[in-house]
Amino acid sequence: MPSLNDIRSTFLEFFRRNDHRVVDSSPLVPRNDPTLMFANSGMVQFKNCFTGVETRDYKRATTAQKCVRAGGKHNDLDNVGYTARHHTFFEMLGNFSFGDYFKDDAIRFSWELLTRDFGINKDKLCVTVYHTDDEAAAIWKKVAGLPDHRIIRIPTDDNFWRMGPTGPCGPCTEIFYDHGDHIPGGPPGSPDEDGDRFIEIWNNVFMQNEQFADGTLRPLDMQSIDTGMGLERIGALLQGKHDNYDTDLMRSLIEASAHATSSDPDGPGKTHHRVIADHLRSTSFLIADGVMPSNEGRGYVLRRIMRRAMRHAHMLGAVDPVMHRLVPALVRQMGGAYPELARGQATIEETLRLEETRFKQTLDRGLRLLDDELGSLPDGADLPGAAAFKLYDTYGFPLDLTQDAMRERGRAVDVAGFDAAMAEQKAKARASWAGTGEAADSRVWFELAEAHGATEFLGYDTETAEGQVLAVVSGGVLAENASTGTAVQVVLNQTPFYAESGGQVGDQGLLVTPSGTMRVTDVKKAQGLFLHMGEVTAGVIAPGQGAQLTVDHARRTAILTMSHSAAA
Ligand code: SER
Repeated sequence: MPSLNDIRSTFLEFFRRNDHRVVDSSPLVPRNDPTLMFANSGMVQFKNCFTGVETRDYKRATTAQKCVRAGGKHNDLDNVGYTARHHTFFEMLGNFSFGDYFKDDAIRFSWELLTRDFGINKDKLCVTVYHTDDEAAAIWKKVAGLPDHRIIRIPTDDNFWRMGPTGPCGPCTEIFYDHGDHIPGGPPGSPDEDGDRFIEIWNNVFMQNEQFADGTLRPLDMQSIDTGMGLERIGALLQGKHDNYDTDLMRSLIEASAHATSSDPDGPGKTHHRVIADHLRSTSFLIADGVMPSNEGRGYVLRRIMRRAMRHAHMLGAVDPVMHRLVPALVRQMGGAYPELARGQATIEETLRLEETRFKQTLDRGLRLLDDELGSLPDGADLPGAAAFKLYDTYGFPLDLTQDAMRERGRAVDVAGFDAAMAEQKAKARASWAGTGEAADSRVWFELAEAHGATEFLGYDTETAEGQVLAVVSGGVLAENASTGTAVQVVLNQTPFYAESGGQVGDQGLLVTPSGTMRVTDVKKAQGLFLHMGEVTAGVIAPGQGAQLTVDHARRTAILTMSHSAAA
């Protein structure tokens, strides 16, 4: 029986043999897309190769890409642990052509790998194509000899893949495996397609269009291929399982969790072990890629996942922190394919241990409060928003942790009430800030921080990144844009620039948008925002634009060297 590690290697090796460059997974925090929280598919790192903005020294690539879906558009967090195929972290295997081969070869590669190298029974496979894509249907018939009824035409967006509201896109063909008539469910496109019988295993996207913000769809100059196959799904299939959590890799993590908590992996705590196994992967990989738990943005998604796992460990009766003790099992399984995991092992363990030690101090009290609240409610009533907010504010319970705890008790949370309590707290903060007598020009930072949250700092492991311009401030007020010669302070959603703090000087460098350039001469912090200060040196800069940010490397290095030798 091939292990998940074997299957990953077979996939990459197949495409290497077919002249593809084996490219490393990109980090989970996308460097080239300021609007995306985490890499959520293999094509993210190649986005600009499809549109022709970027060219590389290869036209065919293959990857095993780390993906996290736990925030934003694709959010699987709520279901993880309770279903057979939801994960916050998963690996996407893919092959890519940038203006090289197109539908014919892509379909041929897929069929050959699945039926020859992986040895899957041809009679168990069926495919979908976009309803107008006669070409793909004809190729399937020719290459695979599939009868018409196993080439299903789908008229919906299920077979037209888009990465988001803008960007490269195109019709796709999906390959399904029939797990057999003992499992309820119908073929794709049928009324009971959501059953578990027919499982999608591979998506082949024919990148031939670009979607623009004004709604137009234009043909791309190049015709390209982007495919994605979840390793956990194909692994389950090749290991004769129906549940991704029964694969060798996930099973070894479940057993590590059972061992660490002295409990039965398949006993009443089964769901807890599944949650822990999944969350161990996402939290460890996020920390390895430089994300740290915090109360904003990506760091808050990480904290939510960590705390959710910790509550499940608590449910298993764990008294001491558990998560950090499972990291060696993960490194044993995945450290070979992802060396960053082994390199980061000490940081991952320490971060998990600290967070769990801190959270344990309030977890018990919070859960007691929750039970007290429930005791005073009518049977089946939702938890009031004010109680959920108190758990959040006083005990550090993210909303989804409370929802998860309520789900076990067959109850829901009044989310509107929670939002109202949060809004009320912000209004109070605003009122008390207004009374502090701070200068009017700091009001603008307060309001921006309230609207957008803190700037996310990416500079621990990169000196270049894209960010989205949130505000351009000139003369203490928000500007619609700023042109050459204007002194400005620019706020972005994320940045690789260090801000001045605690004796550390701010970085210098360049900020380049599609219409202008700014020379950044200093970066300061206000209300958690990073203020990029300097002058527009060419063109115009405006809020809403994407910006390429480049730290002056020589200067940063010189400063770091100086401060290190001063400290020595
Ligand atoms: N981008 C496509 C997907 O995510 C194929 O990789 O399904």
